[in-house]
Order: sequence, then C-alpha cells, then structure tokens
Amino acid sequence: MVREHRIRLGLVVSRRDLLIDPWAIIILAAGQGTRMKSRVPKVLHPLGGQPLIRHSTGLARALVPQRPPVVVVGHGADGVRAELGDEVEYVEQAQQLGTGHAVLQARPALEGRAAQLVIFYADMPLLTRETVQRLMALHQEKGGPLTLLTVIADEARGFGRIVRDEAGRILGIVEEAQATPAQLAINELNPGVYVCDAAWLWPRLASLPLSPKGEYYLTDIVGLAVAEGVGVETCTTDDPGECLGINTRVHLAEAEATLRGRINRRWMLAGVTLLDPATTYLGAEVEIGPDTVIYPNTHLWGKTKVGQECIIGPNTLIRDSTIGNQVQIECSVIEGAIVEDKVDVGPFAHLRKGAHLATGVHMGNFGEVKNSYLGPGTKMGHFSYLGDAQLGENVNIGAGTITCNYDGVRKQRTVIEDGAFIGSDTMLVAPVRVGRGAKTGAGSVVTHDVPPESLAYGVPARVKKSPGDGSATASSSGQDGT
Ligand code: UD1
Ligand code: CA
Repeated sequence: MVREHRIRLGLVVSRRDLLIDPWAIIILAAGQGTRMKSRVPKVLHPLGGQPLIRHSTGLARALVPQRPPVVVVGHGADGVRAELGDEVEYVEQAQQLGTGHAVLQARPALEGRAAQLVIFYADMPLLTRETVQRLMALHQEKGGPLTLLTVIADEARGFGRIVRDEAGRILGIVEEAQATPAQLAINELNPGVYVCDAAWLWPRLASLPLSPKGEYYLTDIVGLAVAEGVGVETCTTDDPGECLGINTRVHLAEAEATLRGRINRRWMLAGVTLLDPATTYLGAEVEIGPDTVIYPNTHLWGKTKVGQECIIGPNTLIRDSTIGNQVQIECSVIEGAIVEDKVDVGPFAHLRKGAHLATGVHMGNFGEVKNSYLGPGTKMGHFSYLGDAQLGENVNIGAGTITCNYDGVRKQRTVIEDGAFIGSDTMLVAPVRVGRGAKTGAGSVVTHDVPPESLAYGVPARVKKSPGDGSATASSSGQDGT
C-alpha cells in the first residue's frame, strides 16, 4: 500500500527501502565439484539438456516468482554468470570454506530485505516444487525458526545423517566423514533443503564452529538451534529419487534416468506413444501433441514442438524445431527447422538452421536443407543439397541436385519457382533463378537464370531455343530418379 501510494505520488523510492520480501531463495553453487573430475564446474554439467544450475533456478522461480534467487558463485563463477545472465542475483564466495560460509556471503545482500529464506544446493536438480512448498507451509504453520527436509533412503550416498533422540526429536546433522559407525547406519538423511527465519539465521551463521574438515557446515545450524532450545521442524519425503545429489558422474547418469522417466511418463499420460521410453530422450521444454508415436532412440531437445499424429524416429534427433501435424520423420537430424503438416522426411535427411518445409513436402534420403523454404508439395527425393534457396509449390528436385550457394566469399541465393522440374544432378550456381514451370536437363550446370516454361541443359547450361533444337533430347531432360 505504502509503496503504491508513493509511486502514485511520483516519488522515486527503491522497493527495497520500503518492503521486506516475505521470501528469498539462496542457491549454493560455489563449490568445485571435485568428485566430477572435470574442468567444467559441476553446476554447468548438462542434465536433461540443460545445465544443472538451470534446474535449481527454474525451481526457485517457480517457488518465489517475485524475487530473483540469490546464487552463491565461486568456483567457475564466470561460466555460471555467462549461463544465467541477469536472471539471478549473484553473491561471490571467494574461498570455498563450506556451505555455511557460502550462505553467510549472502548476508549483505539479503539482511533486512527478506523475512524468510529457502536454501538449497545447486547439485539437487530433481527436487520438486511440491516438496519445497510443503516445507515452506510447514515452516509458516509451526512458526520457525528452522524447518528442514529429510529423506528415508536405503543408500546413503554420502549424505549427512539425521540424528534424533529416543523420543524422535532432532538433535543435529552429522556429516558422513564425522559419523560414528552407529550414526552411519541411520537411514534418515539430509537432502539439504532448509527453510529459516532470516533474522534468526544471520547471526547464527556467523558463529558456526569450524568442522574437523576445516569448513563451516550449514548443517551445524541444526545443532545450534537444538542447543538454544528453539523449534526445528522436519518434513520427511518418501521419494529418494527427488533427493538425488550430484557429486559424481555416476549420480549424473542416475539423475538423467530419473528425470527422463518423469518427463516420458508425463507425455505418455498426455497421449503420446513411446515405443521404448528407455531410449526416448525428451528435453524439459519440448512439447508433443496427442497420438504422436515416437520410435526408439529418438532425441527431442531444446524448444522443439511436435504436433499431433506424427510418427517420429527411430534414430532421430530434433533440436529447436517446430514440427506440424501428421508428419513422419525417420532416421534424420533436424535442427532449427520448421516442418509443416503432412511432410515426410528421411530416412537419413538433415534439416539445418532456417530450413522450412511447407505442407506436404517430401524429403527423401540423404538430403540436406539449410536456410531454405520448400513450398507446398515440393519433392526432393534423393541425395540433394539445398542451401539459401527459395522454392515454390510442387517443385521437383531430381536426384543429386545441388545449390552451389557459396562462391568462396559470400553465400548466394537460388530461387526455383512453382512447378519447376530440376533434372538429376543439376548444379545450380547461385545467384540464379529457375522460372515457373522451367526444366533443367540431367547433369546441367546452371549459371544463368532460366526463363519460365523453358528448358536449360548442358555445361554450362543453355536454354533450348526452339522445339526443333535437336540437342535437347528427351533422355537429357530432367529425371527425378524416383
Ligand atoms: C551437503 C551437506 C550434506 C547433505 C548433502 C546433500 C553440508 C556440510 N553437507 O554435502 O549434509 O547430505 O549436501 O546433497 O552442507 N558449496 C558452496 N560453497 C562451499 C561448499 C559448497 O557454494 O564452500 C555448494 C556446492 O557448490 C554444492 C553445495 O554447496 O552445490 C553442496 O556442496 P557439496 O560439497 O556437494 O556438499 P555435500 O558433501 O554433498
Ligand atoms: Ca553434494
């Protein structure tokens, strides 16, 4: 109210001076990820087609849309900044002195500006919104100051153990390296998702003890809270799958399989047939229409959209492309392309950036199309390359046709008008235009424009002058090779 009033009065007042946000999210991403044995920072390793860190920032945005999350960066900070740009607020942890120390670095940015904090690690990509929301709700219901998630799992995977007294009250979290044999046997683990009252947390973080490993552990705030006699609430999840922390590449592969299972299941329930979900790879942002059938070993990545009643695969890779309805694509690679309804592609076709196949186009085997428009009903059966070309309706591209679009310096355009018939093995030396209804002879090298309804043939191609010109025989005119 106050803020709105001031804005109406035209006062320029920073939002931060007036309001304390109810929630802020802190994501820890400064660690080196030593166990990945990689030059790439752990949080930039890909999972489900996007860097690990994006799973965390996506979750943060879903939980608290009003405020960008604070990401603590350190090791590989430049790479993380390059990936996330200005979508988040950054805090630098110059030296990686532990998870508690990492959160403390956010104090100047957040103290007095956010009432409650949700803290999680950037290496927990499968965490769901529902689970964290449950935790946030419990925190508000119980009044804080600290609420954390726990998970029951058979395999500890290096997680901290949740230690409780005989009455079941939480006493603290013990890291695996410091746990006694009895504590190692505990199957209630710390996935590392914390909700806390900011005003309570900040001074406590500053007084964390140094661990035997020489780090300040965030997990030790639990022990501090217990020692103070303040409430620590826990919420236990029954799904260890969502609490998979990525420390090694083995974990990464496990997370990939879990994530794939989730996504595939969602699409199957939405009416898409997956012949073999185990070999179907669908990116998180992909969309697929009902009654589409996906054959094994098919990868759909990026901002790919597939319409209804399509048949895709087997052995097909589609990236950042829009596919219409009733399209068939077999054993092909499609990147940055638009494919309209009722097109069939493949086997072994390659559509590259800017390829646009209009309704009813047929593109057969071993063809490549880049930055080109193929009008409705156009056919390109075999072994052809079309680059930087504009084709009209019902054009027939004979086997082995090539647009020679690059003169060594610049890319040049080829235009082929409606109904043109390009003979087998024609070289179209761009810039060049083949007129409406024109034909080229097999093996011709076309260096000049071909007028509509004419026939050009030979090397270099000449336009046939009159019906009596005997050099253009029927056998040298175009054959589509079908
Ligand atoms: C941590 C928890 C452990 C929990 C597990 C769950 C602590 C001390 N331990 O262990 O109880 O079961 O996660 O996955 O918190 N990071 C920084 N700065 C640092 C150190 C780490 O930003 O100085 C970040 C890392 O980038 C990573 C996260 O914090 O995203 C967790 O660090 P990691 O070293 O993976 O902790 P774990 O040993 O897995
Ligand atoms: Ca970890």
